[in-house]
Amino acid sequence: MIKESVRLDKFLADAGVGTRSEVKSYINKGRVFVDGEVKKDSSFKININHTEVKVDNKVIEYNQYVYYMLNKPAGVVSATNDNFSKTVVDLVEDSGKSNIFPVGRLDKDTEGLLLLTNDGELAHNLLSPKKHVGKVYYAKVKGVVTAHQIKSFEEGLQLEEDFITLPAKLKILEASDISQVEITIYEGKFHQIKRMFEAVGMEVIYLKRLSMGELTLDNRLAPGEYRRLTEQELNKIRR
Ligand code: URA
Repeated sequence: MIKESVRLDKFLADAGVGTRSEVKSYINKGRVFVDGEVKKDSSFKININHTEVKVDNKVIEYNQYVYYMLNKPAGVVSATNDNFSKTVVDLVEDSGKSNIFPVGRLDKDTEGLLLLTNDGELAHNLLSPKKHVGKVYYAKVKGVVTAHQIKSFEEGLQLEEDFITLPAKLKILEASDISQVEITIYEGKFHQIKRMFEAVGMEVIYLKRLSMGELTLDNRLAPGEYRRLTEQELNKIRR
């Protein structure tokens, strides 16, 4: 549920005006006006529907939704809470966290691109099997990957009695004792990539998601780091 009232600094940060510390400095410098008056209290409560907030002379529209790109590290679970392990939501320092949740799941030992948001509709669209959003992964696999596996992945693999995978693209980056590959899938069954390799008699020993639809992991983010999506990135995934 989206709250009706939020702190002034959060209001400005959520609207994309700057980071929490940047907007606090704008507030301290007297650049922020609430209903026409300078407001120097960062904790002042703003009613998101009725209060007018300006920075310098510009009216700021509140954005009730937040979108983060996380480079998920291994060892944390893709959930909002967990009794035993740290979750991806715990990694985001956003007081109140705006009820964010991960869009889909990566296994505990998988790294890479994970989107966190409180925008349920966008999450639904990205995950809908009907939309066939392509997800690209980098994997290290025990054994030599050959054209034989490329063909099997292209044809589809039977993972369950009544489930055959959609054609997946497999690109060999290096074929050796530990092969390196890039794989694109258009669905997201539990442990899908690990099970696809298992189905061809091979084992995935490292997995990292590189992209989801048109959203690509920012390679400046170290595992565990995150940042807000840019306006451009948001437009791409809304398409
Ligand atoms: N496939 C897997 O096996 N694991 C993941 O985390 C994602 C895709």
